[in-house]
Amino acid sequence: MNNDIDDLRQQFPQLKRTIRGQPLLYLDNAATTLKPLDMIQALNSYYSNDVANIHRGAHYLGDQGTSFYESSRETVRSFINAESRDEIVFTRGTTEGLNLLANTFSSFPWNSEDEILISAMEHHSNIVPWQLLAQKRNLKLKAIPVTDRGELDLDGLRKKLNHKVRVLSLTQVSNALGTINPVEEIIQICKQWNIVTVIDAAQSIALGLVDVQKMDCDFLVFSGHKIFAPNGVGVLYGKKKLFSQLPPFQGGGSMIRNVTIEESSYLDLPHRFEAGTPPIAEVIGLGCALEFLKKQNLVKIHENEKKLTQIVLDFIRSQKNFRLVGQTNQRAPIVSFLISGTHPNDVGHLLDQQGIAVRTGHHCCQPLMNRFGITGTVRVSFSIYNTEHEAHSFLKALDKVQRLLL
Ligand code: ALA
Repeated sequence: MNNDIDDLRQQFPQLKRTIRGQPLLYLDNAATTLKPLDMIQALNSYYSNDVANIHRGAHYLGDQGTSFYESSRETVRSFINAESRDEIVFTRGTTEGLNLLANTFSSFPWNSEDEILISAMEHHSNIVPWQLLAQKRNLKLKAIPVTDRGELDLDGLRKKLNHKVRVLSLTQVSNALGTINPVEEIIQICKQWNIVTVIDAAQSIALGLVDVQKMDCDFLVFSGHKIFAPNGVGVLYGKKKLFSQLPPFQGGGSMIRNVTIEESSYLDLPHRFEAGTPPIAEVIGLGCALEFLKKQNLVKIHENEKKLTQIVLDFIRSQKNFRLVGQTNQRAPIVSFLISGTHPNDVGHLLDQQGIAVRTGHHCCQPLMNRFGITGTVRVSFSIYNTEHEAHSFLKALDKVQRLLL
């Protein structure tokens, strides 16, 4: 095993645990990543020594907490290469970020001719909020088709573009298939039509694919828990010019300038969208997780993820009873497949019996599953700490499952 990965694995205490008497083989990283010690210690330290509310300037600990929290905002800004800290709003996660946008876009003067464009490979969190907006404002919701290879149909996209399309909300990486979408190219096409672009970076954020200035998107969302940070924290990035035009999403403390019984005036970005006491420890944890990641050899790490993905792809392609769902070559370290004549849940259950964690089911992508005429898949997803040895152990276990089921 690669010594560097060995060192890296030491940073993730959960990798030491056993499941049903066997070492944990964690291959469900697209659902959530394990947590590094630095980040766990940052949470511990906040809750043991540093608890205080922030942005109230009342005492030493409050000021210290504010400074920790705001320094995480700077860490996120630099990590995604935003122009300004004001463009970074902390949310509870990707889902809340998308709901914030769909809710506040409701104030735009659109009419029943106007359209929202998503794709057929979106997670439910990038479908349902737009459906709610479309229903509320009587707008049309359309989806870019997906090809048999599990890629976006760019001709299909071009056919759907016109002056009535107001927003495109698109995932950068499919959580169910692993497809990496050509978002930069698509954003450029959308600009020609004056379309507001929203990118769901839930799966791409940990892969080094996010640079908001290079992508030139208007908005981008991601969750902390998929990038080694705690649950309950996420980021909504928005280009200042457009973001500052949105009305508040939630009202409460910390987002106002002045309140009377009759009306209120609001703070500027980013505080306008951070009503109430925020997830302080979680934001600090997110900053710490990103600092941790920055210290790693990311080029080497992503090469390793690619190699493990290829090992699994080669095996699946060599098996006559397996069906690879999503054939793209532009792939994140995610592989979805089926063993013919078996149910994905049974495969997942038998892998679990061997201490292996994968995800099975529709992956919150029912329209995509319908597109492929299936109800779900078995999904393997790698992260920075997975090893070649683990990839081979997984395949050995999978072979055993195949022989048990067929
Ligand atoms: N969106 C997460 C996944 O794909 C939960 O598993």
